[in-house]
Amino acid sequence: MTENNSLIGDNGSELSLPIITKLRNHPKSLQIQTYLTDRFDRERYEHIYSVQETAVRLAICHNADVWKTHLAALLHDVVKWMCDDELYQNVSRYNIQLDPIEEKMPALLHAIVGVKYAIDLFEVTDLEVLEAIRCHTTGNASMGLIAKLIYVSDFSEPTREYSEAERVREVAVNNLDQAVHDVACYKIGFLLKKGWIIHPNTIHTYNDSLVK
Ligand SMILES: [Fe+2]
Ligand SMILES: [Fe+2]
Repeated sequence: MTENNSLIGDNGSELSLPIITKLRNHPKSLQIQTYLTDRFDRERYEHIYSVQETAVRLAICHNADVWKTHLAALLHDVVKWMCDDELYQNVSRYNIQLDPIEEKMPALLHAIVGVKYAIDLFEVTDLEVLEAIRCHTTGNASMGLIAKLIYVSDFSEPTREYSEAERVREVAVNNLDQAVHDVACYKIGFLLKKGWIIHPNTIHTYNDSLVK
């Protein structure tokens, strides 16, 4: 399914609502949404829907493929319901090779295992969609457009309570790369303050945004 972005207004806001509704009513979306509602509490489900709405609006602003963006947004946290043990079991089941930091940070695993579930349960094969799911937590150097949209939207969707969310959302409308940079800065600062491990892909995201 490919949407015709020429039918949509420049600002991607008021005119995007019918598109968002249409995307959510697609049979593939209904299949995914049933899976999500069966497994998530209201708060997580609202987050996923909010990422979807934010990302699709931004996709319209940046002439990205709205269907791919929608699909990546719906699936980005698809296995977030799993406990750490279950995530590690899936890492073994899929024979996924983790790096030493991923091995110590179960919070990163839902993005990695999520890619496998997107493929196996929902037959997603599009590499841009899979990259967006894989990168949504840490980011990465040279992310594609869909991955940038999901990385920024996951951080800045309106149910996020930190003050930076609204500012990043506004920046992203006109300058997506600046928004990616701002998210990476915030995440690195947060992790440093906590004294937690920083995955190299988060650093790569920051460096890549500066080089550009
Ligand atoms: Fe996530
Ligand atoms: Fe998320």
